[in-house]
Amino acid sequence: MLTRLRDAELRTPSDGPVATLFRGGMPDGELRDVEYLLPSQLLVFLGGLQEPGHACGVTFHGLSTRPEQMARVKDDPSLLGRAVVEGLRWMSPLYGGASRTAVTDTTLGGQQIRGGDHIWLIYGSANADEGEFDDPLTYDLDRARHPNLAFGLGRHACIGSAYAPQVARIALEELFRAAPGIRLDPQRPPDPVGWMFRGSRELHTVRG
Ligand code: HEM
Repeated sequence: MLTRLRDAELRTPSDGPVATLFRGGMPDGELRDVEYLLPSQLLVFLGGLQEPGHACGVTFHGLSTRPEQMARVKDDPSLLGRAVVEGLRWMSPLYGGASRTAVTDTTLGGQQIRGGDHIWLIYGSANADEGEFDDPLTYDLDRARHPNLAFGLGRHACIGSAYAPQVARIALEELFRAAPGIRLDPQRPPDPVGWMFRGSRELHTVRG
């Protein structure tokens, strides 16, 4: 796709985001190579687009399980920030997509881990830990504030953790402004799937 975009930009220079991608900061008439752009574009597509999209989806889905909470959020958009945090806890989009290699023998949660062992970090499961959260499988806007691991922790924590929830918050605010009666289509309920990335591929809605 990037190659096709580059060819088109070469033939007919544009003046939007595609032009910025290929020409921004380059000497006049020169275009950036696709190979140079690939790693950052992967980040933009996965982190920048797919994941904030999942954040909107899981929040909408979670709120839909609590119609009274959905109504409050629509009436008072200042609750949306909290609604998104709880959505990301309730159905963490980066569910089990991270791994580490232990550098030394250790014991964690009663489990022996040997140096060199490969470990999957199941953030979605941690966010449903009954020892940390009451009734963890229930979406609850009024849950007492509690840190969760939707964005990971430590050295490799997500660099988009401040940005992505704001994208989701603003997108949902605009959605509810444009279509205040919007709700899930009862005929086609969400069907979230995924081990590494989790979320509904499609959310069918009716305008209400
Ligand atoms: C709701 C949206 C998002 C979720 C749920 C999410 C989740 C995560 C998680 C759990 C990690 C930690 C992975 C690990 O422990 O190895 C991570 C890492 C990362 N995320 Fe995100 N992310 C989101 C949005 C974004 C955005 C918008 C960007 C950038 C534009 C981004 C870029 C990254 C990068 C570069 C890392 C790797 C950091 C490192 O290894 O040092 N993410 N993300």
